[in-house]
Amino acid sequence: MTNRGKVHVCLSPLEDLPVVDIWLVVDIIRASSVVVTFFDEGGRVLVPVDSVEKARLVREKMGPHWLLMGERDAVPPEGFDLGNSPRDLLGGIPKKYAGAVMTTSNGTRAWIRAWKTGHPVLCAGARNAAAAIERALDGGTIIGILCAGREGRAAMDDTACAGLLVSRILSKKKGFFTDDGAKIALALWETLKEDLGKGVRMASHMEKLRKLGMEDDVDFCCERDRSRIVPEMSEFKGYPAFFSGKEGEK
Ligand code: MLT
Repeated sequence: MTNRGKVHVCLSPLEDLPVVDIWLVVDIIRASSVVVTFFDEGGRVLVPVDSVEKARLVREKMGPHWLLMGERDAVPPEGFDLGNSPRDLLGGIPKKYAGAVMTTSNGTRAWIRAWKTGHPVLCAGARNAAAAIERALDGGTIIGILCAGREGRAAMDDTACAGLLVSRILSKKKGFFTDDGAKIALALWETLKEDLGKGVRMASHMEKLRKLGMEDDVDFCCERDRSRIVPEMSEFKGYPAFFSGKEGEK
C-alpha cells in the first residue's frame, strides 16, 4: 500500500497539533453551522476573532455595514447585532452586509489555532459533511480534524461529529491510517449507532441551550449534507477570514 493516507483527530484545541496537509475544524453546536449558513445565505466574508473586545474593534474598523455576531454563554454580548443561532441568518440576512465579524467561546479559537499552523483550514460540520470531506481529500492525504470542544476540553458533540467525518473518510479511502483520536471518535460514532443527535444531546453544553430554548438550533445543526458550501480561511485586510470556498471567492 503506497502513500497510505492518514486521519488525525484532535479532540481539543489545546492538544499538540500534528503536521497535516489540511484541517477540518469542527464546532457543530453551533459555530461551524453558523459559518456554513452565513455563506449559504449569501454572505461574502467572515472574520473570526477570539475576544468580544476585538470583535467590537474590528467591526468598528470595517464599518457599520458589517454584521457583528457571536456569543458568550450562548447569548449575544451587549451591542451585537446577532447571537450564534444559524437560524437567525435565514432569509438572506447576510446579503444585506459587506461582511461579518464573529466571536464565540470555542469555535473561533479553534479556527485561529488551525490557521496559525499555516495549513489550509476548512469549516466543517454535519450540514456540509460530504462536501467538506471531498474538499479535504482534494487537499492532501494527511487530513486533520480539529474539534473545538468546550473550554479547551473534549466535548461529546464535536467528537460525535468527528466520528461521522472519519467514518465517511474511511468509507472513501480504505486503509487510511487512523490515530487514537480518530479511533476514539469512530468508536463513539459506532456506539451511537450513527445517531448524531443522540451524541450531540449528551454534550454538557446542551443544558445551557435547553434552558435558553435553543433546541431547534441543535436539530438544524445536526441535519446532514444540506450544503455544498465549504468555507475556507484566507486573509482579509490582514485578518484571518473565511470565504465561501466557491471558485473565484477565496
Ligand atoms: C462555541 O463556539 O462555543 C459555540 O459555538 C457556542 C454556542 O453556539 O453556543
